[in-house]
Amino acid sequence: MPPTTGTLDALLVEQRVFRPAPATVIEANIKPHDLAEAYALAGADHLAFWEKAALELEWRRKWDAVLDASNPPLYRWFPGAQGNIAHNALDRHVHAWTKNKLALIWEGEAGDCRKFTYFELYREVNRLAGALRGLGVGRGDRVCLYMPPIPETVVAMLAAAKIGAPHVFVFAGYSAKALRERVNDSRAKVVITADGFYRGGRMIDLKAVVDEALPGVRPEAAESVVVVRRTGHDIDMQEPRDLYYHDLLRQESPEAPTEVMEADEPLFWLHTSGSTGKPKAVVHGHAGYMVGAHHTFRTVFDVKPTDIHFCTADPGWITGHTYGVYGPLLTGATVILYEGHPLYPQADRLPSIIERYGATIFYATPTLIRMLMRYGPQYPKKRDLSTLRLLGSVGEPLGPEAWMWLYKHFGGSKCPLLDTWWQTETGMAMIAPMPISVLKPGSVGKALPGIEAEVVDQAGAPVEPGQGGYLVIKKPWPAMCLGLEGDPAGYRAAYWERIPGMYFAGDVARRDEDGYFWIQGRADEVLNIAGHRVGTAEVEAALTAHRFVAEAAVIGLPDKIKGEVAKAFVVPDPGWIAAFPDADAFDAELRAHVRRELGPIVVMRSVELRDTLPKTTSGKILRRQLRKEELGEVG
Ligand code: WT7
Repeated sequence: MPPTTGTLDALLVEQRVFRPAPATVIEANIKPHDLAEAYALAGADHLAFWEKAALELEWRRKWDAVLDASNPPLYRWFPGAQGNIAHNALDRHVHAWTKNKLALIWEGEAGDCRKFTYFELYREVNRLAGALRGLGVGRGDRVCLYMPPIPETVVAMLAAAKIGAPHVFVFAGYSAKALRERVNDSRAKVVITADGFYRGGRMIDLKAVVDEALPGVRPEAAESVVVVRRTGHDIDMQEPRDLYYHDLLRQESPEAPTEVMEADEPLFWLHTSGSTGKPKAVVHGHAGYMVGAHHTFRTVFDVKPTDIHFCTADPGWITGHTYGVYGPLLTGATVILYEGHPLYPQADRLPSIIERYGATIFYATPTLIRMLMRYGPQYPKKRDLSTLRLLGSVGEPLGPEAWMWLYKHFGGSKCPLLDTWWQTETGMAMIAPMPISVLKPGSVGKALPGIEAEVVDQAGAPVEPGQGGYLVIKKPWPAMCLGLEGDPAGYRAAYWERIPGMYFAGDVARRDEDGYFWIQGRADEVLNIAGHRVGTAEVEAALTAHRFVAEAAVIGLPDKIKGEVAKAFVVPDPGWIAAFPDADAFDAELRAHVRRELGPIVVMRSVELRDTLPKTTSGKILRRQLRKEELGEVG
């Protein structure tokens, strides 16, 4: 079994349980008998369960079958169905009581605020949809979004969905090189971006990164760049390529037709890191993803018409896609989107946002919670957080200590804390408690109804309760990805052939006697740095691209705040001695180099110079041995 971080010991002894308050049970969408019924239905008829979930949404045409499993693992949900996620997330609200309800509350880092009702959002989305069509973007063409957390980002996602153009989001913290690769990879006709944005008290010049990235992309890609004016600073607008968003929308109609999509036509691509090579594009479709996002948001997050949902994740990650944008809008909730750094100008920012907008649900990441913990309870204490009724966490193991802290200091020991396990590939939460569940700090609870999860050994046999093993999913689920773009063989190999017939998640976990899952960490060569997936292979490739690096190996080290950070072992090219004054300067250069190549997501603690790297006889780097030397772990 691969090594795991220090939280494991704590997980093994954690015995506390928290029962829901009577009021929580009375008010929950899913009450204990509903949940029992859901498990019973899903157990008796898996497809009937998911069909019921699909019937909660509007369709242009219903499916011929719930699932086409004729060509596994390329499962196709709701074949024959037609519709569009933008219809359910937006259009239908315009003919319902939600029309004039707030869809989006946005706060800029400087404290500026913009609000959109469903109707206002609808009109803005239609204008952009028309503008994109005017730029020649049609059904199936990709639109790349390199955008900060601003309202236009939500508009852009929905506008692309509306015209049937898959969006390919590149998180605004990624480097020019990553952007270039993804524009090339997706051949995106249009790139939508902003002039800049504010984070941590600084203005980030996003357009400059775009200008650095785009020269040299393949000729049919990035024909146009649509620029949202956020900061208003001077930027280089290159004619005829660059167009201001506001100029483009001025003449557009606030009405635009919604493309009628087939069930498995792509809605978006999202790149994520695996254990080999470059990040791959995970593709999600319109129908299954919509059903999964809607159903889980309604049941797990227990959303009510009065909810104001604060998801701290950037829209550019899967969490932002599913539970920051699509899930909330599909259910007619109100979402809060915050532009800036969560601790700016001080650690009171998030509690202050919760207080000022009356957030009822707070969905955050363990890294963020640990960052807040460092300041003690003073900030949440100063604010009125009494509107909160649910807390959530996602992205990395939360652990009992951070769990207790959030539960107590944000939730006043009365809000259920839902630690949700899922992935970019799963599209929706898979293993998670519900508000009525008995909670165990540090556990992600049970598999949701309709999800068959298990912990197995290398041969696929279930392990005993309490034993560690590989986390697998044994039956298809609606929001599962359609595959990896252009790489069906890679999709099969990475997820479906490690343990034949099961979806291999890449995580190590155990399940206790009550069926609760405890996630221990990744089983593969993927680091989880502050909830961001980073393949060791990617970092190694970035390092070896440096002229003074001959060979490199990267491992993860446990980190108190970020969960994990990277450490590199480098065999330098002897030329470095003449080029740098000392090893410290070389180390700094290599770290800056990785940042330039991959973006600030990859936090590197140190670079150690070595004469050789340990290898197998066939020449593969023995990262396990390096880890053992570093951490004293038994591989
Ligand atoms: C990996 C997926 C799904 C949104 C964010 C990450 C880890 C995810 C949990 C959790 C422990 C978790 C797993 C998983 N992970 N949620 N609640 N507890 N670990 O999406 O970038 O696709 O990463 O994140 O290791 O495999 P992602």
